Amino acid sequence: MADSSGKTFYLETFGCQMNVHDSEKVIGTLVAEGYRQVPTVEEAGLILYNTCSIRDKAEQKVFHRLADYKKLQAQGKRFGVLGCVAQQEGEKIFERAPHVSIVCGSASYRNLPQMLIQIEAGKRVTGLDDRETDQCFETEFTARTNPHRGYITIIEGCDKFCAYCVVPFTRGKERSRTSDSVLAETRQMADLGYSEIQLLGQNVNSYKDPAGKRTFAELLAAVGQVPGIKRVRFTTSHPRDFGRDIIEAIDAVPTLCDHVHLPVQSGSTRVLDAMQRLYTRDQYLERIGWMKVARREISITSDVIVGFPGETEAEFEETLSLLQEVEYDGIFGFKYSPRPNTPSLAMEDAIPDAEKSRRLAVMNEMQREIQRKRNQNQVGRTLEVMVEGKNEARGQWIGRTTQNKTLNFAANKASTPAVGSYVNVVTTGCFPNSLIGEMVV
Ligand code: 5AD
Ligand code: SF4
Repeated sequence: MADSSGKTFYLETFGCQMNVHDSEKVIGTLVAEGYRQVPTVEEAGLILYNTCSIRDKAEQKVFHRLADYKKLQAQGKRFGVLGCVAQQEGEKIFERAPHVSIVCGSASYRNLPQMLIQIEAGKRVTGLDDRETDQCFETEFTARTNPHRGYITIIEGCDKFCAYCVVPFTRGKERSRTSDSVLAETRQMADLGYSEIQLLGQNVNSYKDPAGKRTFAELLAAVGQVPGIKRVRFTTSHPRDFGRDIIEAIDAVPTLCDHVHLPVQSGSTRVLDAMQRLYTRDQYLERIGWMKVARREISITSDVIVGFPGETEAEFEETLSLLQEVEYDGIFGFKYSPRPNTPSLAMEDAIPDAEKSRRLAVMNEMQREIQRKRNQNQVGRTLEVMVEGKNEARGQWIGRTTQNKTLNFAANKASTPAVGSYVNVVTTGCFPNSLIGEMVV
């Protein structure tokens, strides 16, 4: 749309893939309203932060940014806080940062066009939802930044209420899109040249088609069968709702990537119970067992929290032994962070921060060795990668394997692999977090 009014915005995104994709939708909506995105705060009339409150550190970032740029209000710039911190803190944000004029949680983004009119008129606006909204944010104006890999939200919100987690309070109740609309979006994206689709949701595998047509595994398979789609990923999965049918779909449909992210959070059944995770260590390991016997080798990654209130040394060691047993290809390890509204906030026996840091360091160190070993198995193999870019300094191309591993590779001077294309690379070496190789011509 033409930019006749000179309205500009700057948007910075914190947090997870869901937020990154929400930002793509927000950008698309603003552009459709006649705004132009600019790369710096200085050039912008409207400064927006799409925030994350999953852990304390993430939450503090937005307040630091707001404090840094407060003086710019005198130049007539307006500020907005979107996303999880907005939903969680609500109007309290105006008290802490009076120069903010819009506070809007993710479940209210569909109202952004009206809100923009109000802030342009110099008003302050809030868009906060109770947990009960049934609305999904579907928009035809998604400004996808990557022309090859596209994200599609299939389910929003969360009804699980794990004891430590703010998400059910910041993203509202679980609501799925119809599988027909997800497939229509996939076809549209395939027509535009996207070859990789990532299905997103707080718990993608808790997906329930409102039209009752397809299960999650059936939707996954159908997305993978859309002509032009070469890779399908999905994140995040909850172990409780992770059925064997998902592995059967991966077995049957070659475009479904050989990677499952299945956050365990703890290896101790006692701690899992206190976390209200709804599965035991053994039930989790049973699901891992299904993956280990799949037709293709599936890489498995996880999220792990250390130092949950009351976690004993022995329970922490159960997490370490689970890591040894599963041999994950990657983990995201976090120190437990107390969050507002969550049941674990009131739990006793907080673990001192220094002890949480020690446990995290021990776990990460052990995991590095596991990953080194896992990646060593890939050496000597020829793997197909999607080309993601070039590291000019190193003269290396950056690729991603179906297992979601980064494979940096050298290419013959005569061949310049195009970003977004797929090439074969023979793996010649590895590190804990990446592989190296040479392009096969
Ligand atoms: N403290 C630490 N880590 C947390 N996560 C979620 N809530 C908390 C918290 N309060 C982690 C979980 C989740 C990931 C996205 O963030 O491991 O899977
Ligand atoms: Fe949070 Fe648990 Fe829901 Fe994941 S499943 S978003 S950890 S409440």
